[in-house]
Amino acid sequence: MARELLVLNGPNLNLLGTREPDVYGADTLDDIVAELRSLAAERGYELRAVQSNVEGELVDALHAARGEVAGVVFNPGAYTHTSIALRDAISAVELPVVETHLSNVHAREEFRHTSMLSAVCLGVVGGFGRTSYRLALDALISHLDGATS
Ligand code: DQA
Repeated sequence: MARELLVLNGPNLNLLGTREPDVYGADTLDDIVAELRSLAAERGYELRAVQSNVEGELVDALHAARGEVAGVVFNPGAYTHTSIALRDAISAVELPVVETHLSNVHAREEFRHTSMLSAVCLGVVGGFGRTSYRLALDALISHLDGATS
């Protein structure tokens, strides 16, 4: 298996930096991906990054990742709360996926308290701003490298 990872971002995350900065922070998605790329490289992994506002394109990105990457850091945006198609895609590709959120979805509106995806993910990280992505990447690589703690 290639030592490559996918960082997948869903709808509206292309607007990071200008989108509700009090909730999502001032960093752009490019800033976050650049940092993850260098953290991954330090641990011997390459990153591929995909962002889409279209549910089916996120499904396609998961399908394309199958057999090509070792795992996925995935912020599904609002599709977290609605998408059975993405849940089925995660189950189908049998890759370890870390569901990742900038905000603490459980401290926000009730409709954000439900995730269609968590049950088929390796784990969930949220509430730490861009640090959520760093934690998710660290957890994914530790899992892949067989760390026990
Ligand atoms: C989000 C939380 C979702 O509820 C929201 O729809 C997003 C971003 C987060 O990163 O905190 O678009 O996934």
